[in-house]
Amino acid sequence: MKLPSRVKIVEVGPRDGLQNEQQAIDPQIKINLIERLTQAGLTYIEAGSFVNPKWVPQMAGSDLVFQGIDRKESVSYAALTPNLQGYKRAMECKATEVAIFAAASEAFSQKNINCSISESLARFEPLLVAAKAANIPVRGYISCVLGCPYEGDVSPEKVLEVAEELFSMGCYEISLGDTIGVGTAKQLSQLIQTVSRAVPIDKLAVHLHDTYGQALANTLTALQEGISVVDSSVAGLGGCPYAKGASGNVATEDLVYMLNGLGIEHGVDLSALIDAGNYICDALGRSTGSRVAKARLGA
Ligand code: HMG
Ligand code: MG
Repeated sequence: MKLPSRVKIVEVGPRDGLQNEQQAIDPQIKINLIERLTQAGLTYIEAGSFVNPKWVPQMAGSDLVFQGIDRKESVSYAALTPNLQGYKRAMECKATEVAIFAAASEAFSQKNINCSISESLARFEPLLVAAKAANIPVRGYISCVLGCPYEGDVSPEKVLEVAEELFSMGCYEISLGDTIGVGTAKQLSQLIQTVSRAVPIDKLAVHLHDTYGQALANTLTALQEGISVVDSSVAGLGGCPYAKGASGNVATEDLVYMLNGLGIEHGVDLSALIDAGNYICDALGRSTGSRVAKARLGA
C-alpha cells in the first residue's frame, strides 16, 4: 500500500465545527478549545471566519477569539475569509493565514456566498493581491467536489477548472471539499487523479464531511492517491449552514487513530485530543461524533 510517511492535519473544528451551532458559544470556550487542541499537538487550526455575521451569526465573535488565544509560535491560526473586507478583519486580529472558498457548483456558490463561481474568483483577486503584498499565505477551498445539495452530480472537470484557477491565482494549497459527504472512494480517486493533472498532488488536501459515513474510508483512499494534508474536526463537529443535513468533517480523533495504526507521523497526542473533544462536547451539551472517543469513554 503506497502511503505518505507524514500527514499534516488541518483542524477545522473551531470554524467548520462551530459555525453551524444554533446556541450562542462564549468566545472564551472557543479559545479554551483552541488552546487544548494546540496542547494536543495540532499545529494548524482554523480558528474562525470573517464572513457577514448576518449570514453566519455563530462566527460573529471571531475577532475576540483570535485576540484571546495564547499563541504558540509553531502554530498557524487561520481564518476563513470570503472577500477583501473579511481579509482586512482577519488581519486586524493577526490571523496567521487565511482561506478563501469557492464552489464547483453554481447553485451552491449562489446560496453560500451570494455570487456565481466566476464572480467569486473576481472577488478573491484583490484579497490575493493584498495577501501576497503582506506575505500572508492563502489556502483555497472548493466545495461540492463530489456532489451538490442543489444540483446533484458535479463533474470532476469542473472541479479541475476551479482548482486550476485558484492555484494560478496564488493559493498555496487547494482543499477539495465533499461538503455534503456523499462521495465514495472510487469517485474520490478519480477526482484526485483528474485534479492533479493541473495542481501538483502535494498542493492538494481533502476536506471530507461524514454525512454518509464515508469520510474515513475516503481519507485512506486520498492518502493512497498521494495526498498528505487532511482537514478534520475534533469530535466530528460541524456542517455548513448552506448544506442542510450535512454532518461534520471526519473526526480528528478517528483520523489520528487510523494514522497511528498505519504508522504515519502526525504529531498529535490522541489522549489529549480526546480530552479536547470531550471539553467542547460538554460545553455544547452534546455527545461526541468521534467513534474513537466514544469507544474510549465506554472503556
Ligand atoms: P453579500 O451580501 O453578497 O455581500 O454577501 P456584499 O458585498 O453585497 O455586502 C453586503 C453586506 O455584507 C454589507 O453590509 C457588507 O458590509 C457586509 P451592509 O452594508 O448591508 O450592512 N459584508 C461583510 N460583513 C462582514 N464581513 C465580511 C463582509 N462582506 C460583506 N467579510 C458574503 C457575500 C460572502 C459576505 C456572504 O454571502 C456571507 O457572509 N456568506 C457566508 C458564507 C459562509 O460563511 N458559509 C459557511 C462557510 S463555507 C463552508 O463551510 C464550506 C467549507 O467548509 C468547505 C466545504 O465543506 O465544502 C469551507
Ligand atoms: Mg466544510
